[in-house]
Amino acid sequence: MIKNVKDLIAIANEARNNSYAPYSKYKVGAALLCKDGTVITGCNIENASFTVGICAERTAFAKALSEGKTEFDAIAIVGNTSNRPTPPCGACRQFMSEFVGKDFEIIEASPDGDFVIRKMSELFPDIFMLFHT
Ligand code: THU
Repeated sequence: MIKNVKDLIAIANEARNNSYAPYSKYKVGAALLCKDGTVITGCNIENASFTVGICAERTAFAKALSEGKTEFDAIAIVGNTSNRPTPPCGACRQFMSEFVGKDFEIIEASPDGDFVIRKMSELFPDIFMLFHT
């Protein structure tokens, strides 16, 4: 388990402030911990053309990858729901699986600070890949 779980959750919770979710009203924030210690945030960004919207996790990964980060330890996700940690959606599990190993930690959290930690291998055990590194 990574050391600064609570810090990562606090950063993800802060990132919720930038969420653009006028349609669902479900504000999500993410904080992605890179292996070099950098933390990259993300939030969900919805759109009037609903399917064009993007989740907080994929925003964080796209930001990180486009800045040259390629190795990751963990991501904290904070959603709207009190006392119920928000897990990543199926699309985000597939997206993240391209860039992380089986021990990557997914910290599902609520704004109240409740959290549960899952490994990638637990949330997405049978990964579709076109090549293996
Ligand atoms: N959402 C995320 O940002 N991450 C998830 O893993 C679950 C869903 C967003 C997408 C949409 O903007 C809102 O939450 C409601 O589905």
